[in-house]
Amino acid sequence: MNITVFGTGYVGLVQGTILAEVGHQVICVDVDAEKVEKLAQGVIPIYEPGLEALVNENIQAGRLSFTTDAIAGVAHGDVQFIAVGTPPDEDGSADLKYVLKVAETIAEHMQAHRIVVDKSTVPVGTADKVRAKMAEVLSSRSKDSLTFDVVSNPEFLKEGSAVADCQKPDRIIIGTDNAHSVEVMRELYAPFSRQHEKIIVMDVRSAELTKYAANCMLATKISFMNEIANLSERLGADIEAVRQGIGSDPRIGYHFIYPGVGYGGSCFPKDVQALVRAADAIGFDAKVLKAVEARNYLQKTTLFEKISQHFNGELAGKTLALWGLSFKPNTDDMREAPSRVLMEALWNAGAKVQAFDPEAMEETQRLYGNRNDLTLCGTKEAALKGADALVIVTEWQSFRAPDFALLHQQLRQPVIFDGRNMFEPVRLAQKGFVYYSVGRQA
Ligand code: UGA
Repeated sequence: MNITVFGTGYVGLVQGTILAEVGHQVICVDVDAEKVEKLAQGVIPIYEPGLEALVNENIQAGRLSFTTDAIAGVAHGDVQFIAVGTPPDEDGSADLKYVLKVAETIAEHMQAHRIVVDKSTVPVGTADKVRAKMAEVLSSRSKDSLTFDVVSNPEFLKEGSAVADCQKPDRIIIGTDNAHSVEVMRELYAPFSRQHEKIIVMDVRSAELTKYAANCMLATKISFMNEIANLSERLGADIEAVRQGIGSDPRIGYHFIYPGVGYGGSCFPKDVQALVRAADAIGFDAKVLKAVEARNYLQKTTLFEKISQHFNGELAGKTLALWGLSFKPNTDDMREAPSRVLMEALWNAGAKVQAFDPEAMEETQRLYGNRNDLTLCGTKEAALKGADALVIVTEWQSFRAPDFALLHQQLRQPVIFDGRNMFEPVRLAQKGFVYYSVGRQA
């Protein structure tokens, strides 16, 4: 099948590559010429395990190409994916200007029936807007006789495991009431739905809301656990025992109930906020979602509070070793990362940071440049040297079994602030560390 994907961000690039991998002919279109040029040479702008190799394989096999030529893109695909960004507006609602621009481009250049698929995370009602925009453009060009359909097909991949998530989706949501589009989308996704039926067909608005509901539900689980962790700390309990105690109930489950330093990334914060704004816009007070957002905001400050309390508020002149800058492991993404809230609070209090992350060093450099209160270290060990304490913000695998003797040697004081409950408090106490974690007793 011929497929065009507009937008080579996380979603578009992964989706386009995976569709090529199963045999479809895919053209990815992006307005960023420099990015397209690199992609065409098989160089990808993000760190995502397994993706670069797949991009290269499919370019070489002649199934995947990249271009800035939107006209060629519109001519190529029977199915046209819109996978461009929907950044938050000033008020937090999703900005649709890029999505509607692509809709306009498709209508402007199409010469035959097209199925336009919204892959970007877009508010309920966006497909209607895309449809209206296309109809307007077709009509202004006297092309009213051309037919098209707009389908909602939200993406559920996670950064860090995007390739696997896309190759083995839990479900494939197809939102349309058009029987022909259902057939085409079934054919397109047949390679991913062979062993078990993964495709769930529904109306467009329900498909659009499903995406937000899924992310908001997951964000709710996290904020709920963070709230219980705060309570646990104050009531003399251990959140890790509580987590296992409740997770064993299959109605609750073990997934996404890890307390921590608050959720970050490009999805949960933006999507919870966008749904709150969408509710506000129709006069509905989304109380649960607002609480989820409020708890997350506070949770991102908890590490700083513990650090500040430990040092009696005297952070000026102190140096903190910081392990983990990305918003979660296996990515270099620092959007809404808890590490940023922490570093900024530390700097405001006059402290210095010696930071290490296995992948996000370049991104940190890009975001913060050369500040004299930030040292970017080449290894996790180098970050420790002469620091007053160690703070762990992201649970990278390589932080799980540190050389504790070296920690004792390098740190001025044997103090660890752990935002991800990586270690056992009893063991750390035995090793002579003052150990602060989340929702447990110090
Ligand atoms: C999330 C969803 O998990 C995907 O299903 C969805 O497709 C994607 O957003 C999207 O809308 O594009 P992602 O943002 O890549 O994926 O990251 P997650 O793995 O979901 O983690 C989000 C945040 O929650 C991280 O900051 C992580 O540290 C935090 N988290 C996660 C916790 O604090 N506790 C947990 O138990 C799980």
